[in-house]
Amino acid sequence: MIILDGKLTAEKHKVKIAAEVDSILEMGGRRPHLTAILVGDNGSSQTYVANKEKACKRVGFDSTVLRFPASMTEEELLAEVRKLNEDDSVDGFIVQLPLPKHINEQKIIEAVDPSKDVDGFHPENVGRLCLGLDTFVSATPMGIITLLGEYGIETQGKNCVVLGRSNIVGRPVANLLSAKAKIGDCTVTLCHSRTQNLSEFTKAADIIVAALGIPNFVKADMVKDGVVIVDVGITRVPADNEKGYRNAGDVDFDAVAPKCSYITPVPGGVGPMTIVSLMENTLKAYKRKK
Ligand code: GUN
Repeated sequence: MIILDGKLTAEKHKVKIAAEVDSILEMGGRRPHLTAILVGDNGSSQTYVANKEKACKRVGFDSTVLRFPASMTEEELLAEVRKLNEDDSVDGFIVQLPLPKHINEQKIIEAVDPSKDVDGFHPENVGRLCLGLDTFVSATPMGIITLLGEYGIETQGKNCVVLGRSNIVGRPVANLLSAKAKIGDCTVTLCHSRTQNLSEFTKAADIIVAALGIPNFVKADMVKDGVVIVDVGITRVPADNEKGYRNAGDVDFDAVAPKCSYITPVPGGVGPMTIVSLMENTLKAYKRKK
């Protein structure tokens, strides 16, 4: 069993991005600039945004975090998005999800200029992804593909089961893994909460991408020997430590890992790859603008 080390792989990619920023600066260019909008005080969102800020520093990007109270109105948020669309000093920006219930997330996503949509959530970018055209691939699916590629995992013709049909992970990763590509060409089954006889699908899978957000959902008797598992789940569960919680994956790691050929840990698997993919998209937005 080999651990798919997202932390190490992400660090390798950050070194490359940092070198590219250095050469941009040497040529008299400015630093790429990522902005994040954070509305409210969701604990996980605060951690994610802090990690994105830290990664920007590490690779030499400028970063700005715009924080607003949960009481902010949809109209006020739309105005902030429009300001960023117009701001030439910002190459890309994200609106951290989830948003407070009174704000329509889809409306916000659609207000983002697709050329600055480094999350790849805008319908134009999602559509381009579905058509196999150049786009901003959203960060988690992109990180997963990069990680599988770095470890030289064979995907062509493999049976891949994706657990979860979210717009952020399940659907785009199913799309990418079924596309005609080096890391692709899989026969993909997209399973979800209404799937019947789920174990029959997972037991037949060569590759499983678990993105349900249900801690320890995938058990040892649900997978075959030699399976490749990518665990996207990060759910806060109570723990007897300083913070009072730990992040749990969707896979019962201790029981499942011995059966795997490759598996991502939580933390240190998909999470760091997501962040570095966002850095890659920001650099792409910067270069496109030039
Ligand atoms: N919330 C959970 N994951 C993400 C992400 O990748 N981007 C944004 N904007 N919000 C998220």
